Amino acid sequence: ALESMKEMLEIANKNHYAVGQFNINNLEYIQAILQAAEEEKSPVILGVSEGAGKYMGGYNVVTAMVEATMKAQGTTVPVAIHLDHGSSFESCAKAIHAGFTSVMIDASHDTFEENIAKTSKVVELAHMHGVSVEAELGTVGGNEDGVQGGIMYADTDCKELVERTGIDCLAPALGSVHGPYQGEPILGFKEMEEINTIAGVPLVLHGGTGIPTKDIQKAISFGTSKINVNTENQIQQTKVVREVLEANPEMIDPRKYLGPSRDAIKDTVIGKMREFGSSNKA
Ligand code: G3H
Ligand code: ZN
Repeated sequence: ALESMKEMLEIANKNHYAVGQFNINNLEYIQAILQAAEEEKSPVILGVSEGAGKYMGGYNVVTAMVEATMKAQGTTVPVAIHLDHGSSFESCAKAIHAGFTSVMIDASHDTFEENIAKTSKVVELAHMHGVSVEAELGTVGGNEDGVQGGIMYADTDCKELVERTGIDCLAPALGSVHGPYQGEPILGFKEMEEINTIAGVPLVLHGGTGIPTKDIQKAISFGTSKINVNTENQIQQTKVVREVLEANPEMIDPRKYLGPSRDAIKDTVIGKMREFGSSNKA
């Protein structure tokens, strides 16, 4: 059933596993991720970036596709539709009114006070609608939908941000990067542990692609209850599309290359759910 992330993440936090956020780009992603979740009996978060929302025809189209697919596939596990890296109050409001069950307001590029002001406004509207809110402090490295960032470590301001805004979960940027890592990722686990003991909400890890299992497990042990994965699914999906088209240069039926690539997304998501420990938790 469609629900917010609040309870999902609180349960995950208590039971020491993480729920995966898997970003969607089109109907095949929705089908694959929901199938994986149902087979694994895992709660799941469908991440929608502003760019991907636009690509799919707007937030209303996204909600309609997800709801119809859940009905058609007989989805019983908990599912959240989450705006990923919402850039403004307006964007979050649009997603909330379109039926998203969760939003991220990413005001991490603003000053601390502006971040708090923007985030509080989103929380007020979101909670009126039973929608959960994620906020970010510090900057995730790499590039996501044109947003460039450097690596920066968030500090104990986290506690203040949580208390003054009422957010449901927090993404402290601790060295993770969007897209593939250049070498081994170096995550700020010491900071993560400190933040976890004082923040009072489940933590979120962005840039889930390419993080070794031992670091995933460490992050979960320090209160990370949501892990975002985007690039890994794109890599695996596109690899199959390329292979199929290279082997069949005459192929023109999109079903023949998107179909097998959909299976690659599903397999990748199943692997992540097992790694995050969310399988058989729904
Ligand atoms: O918000 C989305 C994620 O942080 C995705 O990161 O593309 O490195 O998996 P990734
Ligand atoms: Zn992210």
